[in-house]
Amino acid sequence: MNKVEIKNLLERALHARSHCYAPYSHYPVGAAVLASDGSIYEGCNMENVSYPAGLCAERNAIGSAICDGKRDFEAIAIIGSFADYTMPCGICRQVMAEFHISTIICGKSAEDYKVFTLGEIFPAAFEEESLRS
Ligand code: THU
Repeated sequence: MNKVEIKNLLERALHARSHCYAPYSHYPVGAAVLASDGSIYEGCNMENVSYPAGLCAERNAIGSAICDGKRDFEAIAIIGSFADYTMPCGICRQVMAEFHISTIICGKSAEDYKVFTLGEIFPAAFEEESLRS
């Protein structure tokens, strides 16, 4: 991905972040996932008074893409706090592994970000082969 594509994905994450529902943590998160056909799906965090029922921005973005029939992905961008790079939680990393989302872009803004591979932040994942071993 070039810098323009990364900036565009981060801007979509920022747009999603503006729609967050986070009345309990007051921690807004937005994510945007890039499908291999070039389409982009947004997601924001969605909390619940029963805390475990809440959903992260990343899984909402990926779920939206899956619901639209997408299965192949290139990258996902995440923006939470503007003060630090928001890293995806463990469950979201597992979902990224399921769909082989290899590039993870964690932004403070559309211009200030870090790029990770999924292997870097989620080595030794539990995979389909693990079920057969
Ligand atoms: N959150 C996300 O949306 N993505 C992450 O990867 C980390 C955490 C959300 C969940 C909750 O609504 C809030 O941030 C605080 O944990």
